[in-house]
Amino acid sequence: MCGIGACLSRIGENVAPKIVKMLKNLEYRGYDSAGVAVLDLDNKISLRKGVGKIDKLAKELKFDEMKGFIGIGHTRWATHGAVTKFNAHPHVDCLNEIAVAHNGIIENYIEIRERLERLGHKFLTQTDTEVIPHLIEENLKNNSSVLESLKKALIELKGAYALVLITRREPDKIFFARFFSPLVIGINDRDIYLASDIPAFLEWTRKVIILQDGDYGFVSRDNIYVRNLFDPSVKSRNWVLVEWTKEMAEKGGYQHYMLKEIHEQPESIRRTVIMVSKQINGVIELLENAKDVYLLAAGTSYYASLHGQYAFAKYGFKSRAIVSSEFLEEVGSFIDKDDLIIGVSQSGETADTLKALRYAREKGARIIAITNVVGSAITRIADKSIIMGAGPEIGVAATKTFTSQVATLNYLILTWAKEHGADVDYLMNKLLVVHKDVERVLEKNEKKAKNLSEIMYKRNNAYYLGRGIGLPIAMEGALKMKEIAYIHAEAYPAGESKHGPIALVTHDFPVFGVVLKDETYHRMHIALEEMKSRGGFIVSVNEVNDQDTMRLSDYHFVIPENYSNILAPLLYVVPLQLIAYYTAIKRRLDPDRPRNLAKSVTVE
Ligand code: G6P
Repeated sequence: MCGIGACLSRIGENVAPKIVKMLKNLEYRGYDSAGVAVLDLDNKISLRKGVGKIDKLAKELKFDEMKGFIGIGHTRWATHGAVTKFNAHPHVDCLNEIAVAHNGIIENYIEIRERLERLGHKFLTQTDTEVIPHLIEENLKNNSSVLESLKKALIELKGAYALVLITRREPDKIFFARFFSPLVIGINDRDIYLASDIPAFLEWTRKVIILQDGDYGFVSRDNIYVRNLFDPSVKSRNWVLVEWTKEMAEKGGYQHYMLKEIHEQPESIRRTVIMVSKQINGVIELLENAKDVYLLAAGTSYYASLHGQYAFAKYGFKSRAIVSSEFLEEVGSFIDKDDLIIGVSQSGETADTLKALRYAREKGARIIAITNVVGSAITRIADKSIIMGAGPEIGVAATKTFTSQVATLNYLILTWAKEHGADVDYLMNKLLVVHKDVERVLEKNEKKAKNLSEIMYKRNNAYYLGRGIGLPIAMEGALKMKEIAYIHAEAYPAGESKHGPIALVTHDFPVFGVVLKDETYHRMHIALEEMKSRGGFIVSVNEVNDQDTMRLSDYHFVIPENYSNILAPLLYVVPLQLIAYYTAIKRRLDPDRPRNLAKSVTVE
């Protein structure tokens, strides 16, 4: 989704190069165009923007040569209006005195635009954002300050926004506002930064203010002025020191963030288990007292939640995983104060998830948040938050946060089961040391994944089959293949695959099987045999000594013994991540920046 990067130099340095760097650091959010505006040394707004990647634009438009000590930048992920230079942000008012960069969607922009057009404002773009500078221009006509004009505009805007604004009227400030869409401030002695996400400025500071819904104000050389639209008692916001380091948000010698993050999983799982064990207080009580329990999430987080549902069921705990965007229609009318919703979101900012959680909260339901980002919006909705220890995830396709989510949900259910007298010591102890086996899985399978990519890169379709605990793993594997290699990969419950999907299977059609040595084993084999006898090219992920599966498969990836249980996703997903990664590479695609996708989807 759109990314905001703004900078104010406290020591009179040109900020454009830093803004460009911030936008580069936010590339993972996904974008199609970008732009930078600075207040130049003649106190005029200098604006450059265009379609394409930052590196290309920086060369063509010479962003780095823009002179000014205050500026804003933006990467746009189109929602309203085509991908064009004009629709790229920042946007300006009629007088070219105000420049705004915005992330989110202004829902009532058409009526505001029509009113402003009747008052003589000229609009140059099809975006919703352009109403903001014009609205402030209009409000300023009453001789009010920029801050008052901004506040008045915010009261009128409906929808979601994180925005930054510079203006010749008050050239020593960057104004900002946040409602639903994320915005954070970074501070050090040299600069003040405003950005959509912390990794934007992590190389310069770890001192961060996390703005909250309704916050607005400005930053100047020696002031960070914050007020809140809904809470008059807010006079400032405290800063926190984030634990993430610059190195954590860098590639560390890997060709891509995604590969680095796949390899970080032993460490991210280990850290997550330790961190979760320290935050478990109160969680079991919430599980205990709930009537119905829903796991709510989007994308990869949904597949982790679906794993949660299967894992909880193993211990007799009933829950239901639901895709956030379907929550209202599917179960909205049943939610009440006795229910518990576990919201699972890496970023803690996914609009669909937040909307569903807010609805549930209004109905009085209790909420647990599982997220990777301290202070994210989801943590403010929840009664109880669990922060995972995965560290910053930059690759758009989630990898290490999937396994951290699975580890977290496993930890919860094992703790619950133990309190109910189940003998879970073996699995709990294994969860504490599983990272060592994840390391082995990486070592054993990486080269093989690379080899298989030589075959897969020419294919346009694949099935991913799984049963029980294996099904969410198959689904996540297929999602990776779609997201970054653009291969149509469809996951199916293995038993259901004969009801339709099998019609497509002819000679050499790739069929991936997640084969666990549990009660699903034989039925899983039946499905793979059915595929094989129609010419399917069988790729299995199976236990190391599972000779029968290996005999049946054209290609296999091995996992250590004794993981055919709720710990399975922590290992079985790893070869599937690697296969998707190397297939994307072989197809000459950039896995860190898949087309049309965004890391954090902050619009509905
Ligand atoms: C986007 C990302 C996915 C992610 C999903 C949910 O679609 O591309 O990788 O799984 O959002 O994000 P969340 O931050 O809520 O886990």
